[in-house]
Amino acid sequence: MQRVFSGIQPSGVPTLGNYLGAIRNWVALQNDHDCVFCVVDMHAITSWQEPAALRTQTREMAATLLACGIDPVRSVLFVQSAVSAHARLAWIFNCVARLGWLNRMTQFKDKAGKDREAASAGLYVYPNLMAADIHAYHATRVPVGDDQRQHLELANDIGEKFNHDYQVEFFPRIEPLILGPAARVMSLRDGTKKMSKSDPSDQSRINLTDSADTIAQKIRRAKTDPLPLPATTEELAARPEARNLVGIYAALAGIDPASVLTEFAGSGFGTFKDRLAGLTIEALAPIAADTTHWLADPTQLDTLLRAGAERARALADPIVREVEQIVGFGG
Ligand code: AMP
Ligand code: TRP
Repeated sequence: MQRVFSGIQPSGVPTLGNYLGAIRNWVALQNDHDCVFCVVDMHAITSWQEPAALRTQTREMAATLLACGIDPVRSVLFVQSAVSAHARLAWIFNCVARLGWLNRMTQFKDKAGKDREAASAGLYVYPNLMAADIHAYHATRVPVGDDQRQHLELANDIGEKFNHDYQVEFFPRIEPLILGPAARVMSLRDGTKKMSKSDPSDQSRINLTDSADTIAQKIRRAKTDPLPLPATTEELAARPEARNLVGIYAALAGIDPASVLTEFAGSGFGTFKDRLAGLTIEALAPIAADTTHWLADPTQLDTLLRAGAERARALADPIVREVEQIVGFGG
């Protein structure tokens, strides 16, 4: 059975983008893969996080993953900072990756913005830590949203250079799994921007904890254009907001975007948005309820995460110890 690894940052409340682009696919992969899922708090502090908020959000993220259907028995679910193998391997990868490779990372450019000099060094080397997350488990399949594609290419470059430099066949190749019509869910306010938990506007996203009323209101107010829905997906190309809502509908209904248009071609956004709100609420309401249920018992949640960390350590420690031997650490 192939091993899957994926991670999510506890830097806010997870969004519909996280759910459709990543988490929902993780849940499905549990049926036929050996899965390791991680709440990546070490990644989160590459941008400033209030310590108390980080601790709360880490728990909330774990509770949400459980509510979405991550099964802590079949899969390994844990918090990144509890397993030191990630940091140890990340340091070695800092010495394998080239500055030229990191300089090409578009996410760093986006996140650092104009004031590059003020960005943390952690934000810059973040893809090396991400590569370490995956390679510490010899994972071969990584389900992510489309925005992570470039980081996975880098993880393969790092694995390959390590194998070459040390003349070993140690790290396997990683296959990105970028699945479904909602691998890139866009902001509800701007169809050219990714829906993100760190966007300053709450109206730009649907949070997995939003109430039914909030979801309906956000979808009703979502930016669209004055034209009716077209008959073909080609006609959506220049209409980013319309394309985004059709993609979300398709993902939630489990059909392709062309079939959505077959149903709604010629109709205005009013009817379409009502149906989309209904579908979204139907999918998210049970998740919100179950998240609340998990959060009501923090002791149970902490025990579960500690057990997950122990299982993660048992997988990653021997692999990273071998890497340390290969590079010449230890006796
Ligand atoms: P992050 O929120 O950056 O920790 O991302 C966690 C996972 O959700 C990653 O696999 C991302 O690629 C995915 N993801 C984040 N935002 C979106 C989005 N707007 N659409 C689709 N996938 C997303
Ligand atoms: N960098 C990813 C994001 O922000 C999260 C992440 C960290 C991850 N480590 C990973 C995803 C390893 C997949 C595999 O979305």
